[in-house]
Order: sequence, then structure tokens, then C-alpha cells
Amino acid sequence: MCGIVAYVGHRDAAPLVLKGLKRLEYRGYDSAGLALLDVENPADAGLKVYKKKGKVVDLEHELAGKDLHAKIGIGHTRWATHGAPNDVNAHPHFSHDRKLAIIHNGIIENYATIKENLIRKGYIFRSETDSEVLIQFIEDIRKETGSSLEEAVRQALLEVVGAYAIVIISEEDPTQLIAARKGSPLVIGVGENEFFFASDATPIIEYTKDVVYLNDLEIAVVRAGELKVINLDNTQTTPYIQKVEMELEAIEKGGFEHFMLKEIFEQPRSIADSMRGRVRADDGHLQLGGLRDYLDQLASSKRIVIVGCGTSWHAGLVAEYIFEELARIPVEVEYASEFRYRNPIIAERDVVIAISQSGETADTLAAIELAKSKGATIFGVCNVVGSSIARATHAGAYTHAGPEIGVASTKAFTAQVTVLTLMAIAAAQKKGTISETLFRQLLAELERIPALVDKVLQNAEKVKEIAYIFTYAKNFIYLGRGLNFPVALEGALKLKEISYIHAEGYPAAEMKHGPIALIDEDMPVVVIATKDSSYEKVVSNIQEVKARKGRVIAVVTEGDTQIREMVDFVIEIPKVHDILMPLVSVIPLQLLSYYIAVMRGRNVDQPRNLAKSVTVE
Ligand code: G6P
Repeated sequence: MCGIVAYVGHRDAAPLVLKGLKRLEYRGYDSAGLALLDVENPADAGLKVYKKKGKVVDLEHELAGKDLHAKIGIGHTRWATHGAPNDVNAHPHFSHDRKLAIIHNGIIENYATIKENLIRKGYIFRSETDSEVLIQFIEDIRKETGSSLEEAVRQALLEVVGAYAIVIISEEDPTQLIAARKGSPLVIGVGENEFFFASDATPIIEYTKDVVYLNDLEIAVVRAGELKVINLDNTQTTPYIQKVEMELEAIEKGGFEHFMLKEIFEQPRSIADSMRGRVRADDGHLQLGGLRDYLDQLASSKRIVIVGCGTSWHAGLVAEYIFEELARIPVEVEYASEFRYRNPIIAERDVVIAISQSGETADTLAAIELAKSKGATIFGVCNVVGSSIARATHAGAYTHAGPEIGVASTKAFTAQVTVLTLMAIAAAQKKGTISETLFRQLLAELERIPALVDKVLQNAEKVKEIAYIFTYAKNFIYLGRGLNFPVALEGALKLKEISYIHAEGYPAAEMKHGPIALIDEDMPVVVIATKDSSYEKVVSNIQEVKARKGRVIAVVTEGDTQIREMVDFVIEIPKVHDILMPLVSVIPLQLLSYYIAVMRGRNVDQPRNLAKSVTVE
């Protein structure tokens, strides 16, 4: 959580950093701040820090009319962990003598002990944050040892327990920025005599495509136009400069009112991109480059454990059905946050698949480390190239959905499900648990999915009309069976996240063991009732709801007349192979939650209390 941006070079730092922070607001948006150093105006010397509760735009209003001239600056958009979201707890934080300032993403777990020692020495703290403790600690080490700032940062980080991505600016050297990371992402953009630091590449790509992904336990020092990277043990390393493949249009709204809507409508393309070069039905080609050396291991595994959080966990539930059905490998799907704090049993030939859009989710990363320590082989399914999770796994496949900026995940989910389906089909083929005919049929059906999703999207107006009718509902129930059960969970999560309506997803048959008590004429029930093997059972479940006067919105297969007569509203979707149904059936649910949230006047892309990338546990 939290987004950090820093710049040193020949451009005006303030507008560049502010623009970058807006791109990173998906990481947190409860307060924002900026520190600038203007050396060209000696009369106005010294570090200046501006901070404001609220969004980056609130900070911008605060800054209107101020002289922000500076060629070096650091900025932060916050998602509060230690201390309430207010002006004081916003970053950057000054050192005690106000000569240093820090921006920090992460958590310093042993901050309380360090703080106590500093208080005993007379340090005074202005905020409640762990980040202020870190910068005062660095200042203290510097004073006690007389060492350089770089060395003091290194010494301090050797003592720190927790996760961090930090950038430090010092009044004493206007050409210098010092950054470090452990567990939180940090990208350095390398331009002509200029350097950029950011939590991801989006604030940088406008200026340079040359980037260095800082590794854990590395410190980057930019001084007088030179970049040096050292390890925490003080050995120097050669930074690996790579080209980032991301275009500016991918991170802009492109005429849509919200990123979420753009991302929903991008799915025909993003699903196609997740299969590009991997699937060719006409000659039976299926290959995932990142799995090549590990496919045997996946296919011969005795058990697969899937870990993830939020929407990624739902994609894992879909994958459970598909792997078990096609590859006949037992699968368990675990919340990463639960898995990491048990003593999970991982046996030889067990495989762990970690799913994460951002590739930075702290719990998922920790689950991977735990599974690795027990000898498991880890596969990653990540969207963000070069992310921490992608780098921590043994093998994997990127989802290639492109940057997802709306906090509620949409195109990342369908891309995850697509890639996991490809993995399951590849494993099944290798293992010989599916026939050549089914293999070819599935590939052909997969190739049709982008067009079918497009067809569902053309029906968006119909979903919008239904959304209008239910805008002020207080609760929602989502029901589905089999592969549509995780879709029901995902539909309910989407609605909760962005409209703040209480919603529950249930396996349709499980409804009668409790939730049925909630049903009355005020309860909208969304039932995913497509023509698959459990169709008749779902029809019975719909009757149970209707008998209690529930208002049913059914997602049905095109041409279905039976359900149309029983329910209040139907949304038709095209027929696809059962295995691939979630890729199509989730689309109307994404649209429904989007339109309801917009009609309720919610901030769809930045819902309250949430952040897109959860880098704290
Ligand atoms: C946050 C986001 C969710 C996301 C989850 C897992 O809670 O708001 O949309 O599903 O994190 O994120 P990941 O990046 O690991 O998929």
C-alpha cells in the first residue's frame, strides 16, 4: 500500500511528482504529501514539506499559488497503517533536525522499541507513524557515528524488522536521493541526467522506458547524476537496466468515465492477450513459455495448493474445479493470510500456485516463502511483470492483462482464469487425462471467448436498466453452483467493494442451510443459472427463492425460456463449454456492480478504505 514517487534532474519536480502520485493512487488515497528542495534560491533554502489529508487533488488545491520551484523532490500517497489518516501522519516525514525527509511504503514492525530508545535520547515525535521513527533513527545513527547518510541508512536498515520501500532526501546534498527496498516494490527510472523513483513504472514511462527494479535488501544512491546500488552488507552490485513495455494509453482512461468501466470493456482484448502466442486451436498448439521446464512437475504433482487473496482467491476457486476435472489432481485453495500462519502440510511433489494481480500482496508473498521453505515448487500467475511474487516463484505465467488501475479487479480476474485454464489443460494433456478431441475442443472454445465476452458487453444497457431498479437495495445474495459458485462470490465482492451494499455469495444449494431466512420481497437474488450439468438443480433453487418472494435476477444461457418465466429479470449470455463459463458469466456481474455504484454516486475507482495493492499483512 502507499505510493511513492521521487525525482532528481533538470525538470520541475513538483508537477512531475504530483502527476506520478495520481497514477499511484490505486495504492492508497487517504492523504498525500510532497517534500521539495530548491537550491537555486538560497534565500529560500531548506527542505519544504507540504501534506494534506485526502486525495492528491486536495494536496494540489493546498499548493495552489505556492512557489514550488525545485529540481528534486519526493512525494507520497498514503493508505494508513500506523496512525489515523490526517495531515500530520501524512508523508513525507522530517528527521528531528528537519534536514532529512522520508517517504515510506511498508511497516517497520520493531518501530516501538526503536522509538522508545530515541525518546530516551530526547527525540520528539510529531506523528504516530513508524516512518517518522525510521528517519529519526537514521539521523541518530548519523550523529552518533559521524557516518555518511548512505552508511547511516544502511546501518538503520540492518536493525529494522518489517517491510519497506523508502526514498530519502537531504538538505545537505541537492543532487542526492537514497532509496531502499525490502518486501515493497520500487522501480528506478534512468533518464539523461535524471532519475525517477516510484512504486511501479506508471509515473516513469512518460519520461523513460529504461528502468531498474530494485531487489530486496538493496540500497540505491543517486548522487551528482550517478546511480550506485549496494546490498545491505555493503557490497556494490551492477544495476540491471531493462526496458519496460508499457504504453501511456494503457494507463489512461481512453474516453471511459472510470478505469473500472474501461477495464471491463477491455476484456475481449485482455483475454486474447493472455492467450497470445500460447494457444492455436487449428494445429493443437498450447505452450506456456514460463512453464516449459516445469510442466512435468505440474502434471505429475500429487496435490496442488493454490494461494491468493480477494479476487485472486476467487480465480483460484475456479481453477480448483478445472484442474480437478481435467487433470485429476487434488486441489486445495487457501487464503494466503491463513496459509502462512498455519503449519501447512506440504509433501514432496506438492505444487503451490500463487495468484496475484499486483504481484506484491504481502500475505501471498509470505505464503510463497513459507511453502518454499518446506520444499514446494511454486508457480506464479501474476499480472505485473517483474513484481515481487513473479520473481519469488520457480516458474509461472504472466496474465498480460495490461495495467489494472480500478481498485475492483475485473480484467485481471478473467485473465487469471484464462491462464489457469491453460495451465490445467496443458497439465491434463501431459498427464493423458483428457482426450485429443477434448483438448482441441477446449482450445477452439477458448479462442472464441474474446468474441463471446464482447457479445455480453454489447448487452451492457440491459444490465444498466436492472442496476437502476436495484440501486437502493440494502442487501444482495448471489447464488451459483459448480464453476459458477466462485463467480457468485466474485459478483458479491464486486458489489460490496464499490457500492458498499452488503452482499453474500453462496453455493445455490447451501442457501437453504441459513441464508434462505434472509429472503423476502426486498431481497434481490442474483442467480447464475446457465445451461450446464447443474441447470435443473439451480432451477429448483430459483423456485425456492421465488416461493419466498425474493426478487430474482438470473444470468441465463441465450434462448432459455424456462427460467425467463420464473424470475423477475434475465440477463442472457452465450453458450460456452462448462469449463469456460466463468469467463463469460462474470461479465454481467461486473457491469451490475459498476452501474449500481455509479448510480449511488460512489467513487468507483477509489472505493473507501480499500487499496489495490495490499503490501501489509
Ligand atoms: C486487494 C484488492 C483486490 C485484490 C486483492 C489481491 O484487496 O483490492 O482487488 O483482489 O488485493 O490482490 P492481488 O494483487 O494479489 O491479486
